[in-house]
Amino acid sequence: MRVPLIAGNWKMYKTVAEAVDLVDGLLAGLGNPSDREIVVCPPFTALHALSPLLRGTEIHLGAQDVYPEVQGAFTGAISPVMLRDLGCQYVIVGHSERRQIFGEGDALINRKLHSAMTHGLRPILCVGETKPERDSGRAESVVVGQLRGCLEGVAASAAADLVVAYEPVWAIGTGDTATPADAQSMHAAIRQVLAEILGSEAASSIRLQYGGSVKPDNVDELMAQPDIDGALVGGASLKADSFLRIVQFR
Ligand code: PGA
Repeated sequence: MRVPLIAGNWKMYKTVAEAVDLVDGLLAGLGNPSDREIVVCPPFTALHALSPLLRGTEIHLGAQDVYPEVQGAFTGAISPVMLRDLGCQYVIVGHSERRQIFGEGDALINRKLHSAMTHGLRPILCVGETKPERDSGRAESVVVGQLRGCLEGVAASAAADLVVAYEPVWAIGTGDTATPADAQSMHAAIRQVLAEILGSEAASSIRLQYGGSVKPDNVDELMAQPDIDGALVGGASLKADSFLRIVQFR
């Protein structure tokens, strides 16, 4: 019932020419993956060039961030309407790098999420604990707090468009992945909280991605977990062969 969703977060990598090369490589090797959904989230600067290449293909376009306002004096910001205009269907909100490096908190992320949904973008909401939070036994309470803050005011009817990515901060870009069992246990806890916030029917339909050093050699085990419905992939999404192998998880 939950179609697995594999998304590549390219972060601040790839010029336009490099982005086009990567998409060409992905399209050439993809085949016809009817039982899974694929998204790439290039930097803003490559969206316009990639949009026509991806139209009508099996790969959807996503953005890495969005500002909640539609237009105005917000220097450097990109609105959801602009992203829709470029053919984006998804947008990442609340990535830990936005939280840690750019100081974003749950209240702003909540506004981004509402604005994305209002304007027809499906948000991929990222949550996850830091290493000290995990080591001190607070991982679950941190993640629950982020979910409650970021989902404030979201209606159960909007749940079909929502994706939640559990990304333990200590696993991002480190090569250190959560064990499939630890990831599954957090995903089950997340689904439980989603049921409390949005109702159990909505919670059972929301796709939960795992993110944090997902690679070709660990994706199969992660995806075999009952509450892991996809992956949000950073480093391994930057090369066609590794991302294709992840997309082709078994
Ligand atoms: P990583 O990044 O796969 O390079 O760990 C994941 C992410 O930040 O979404």
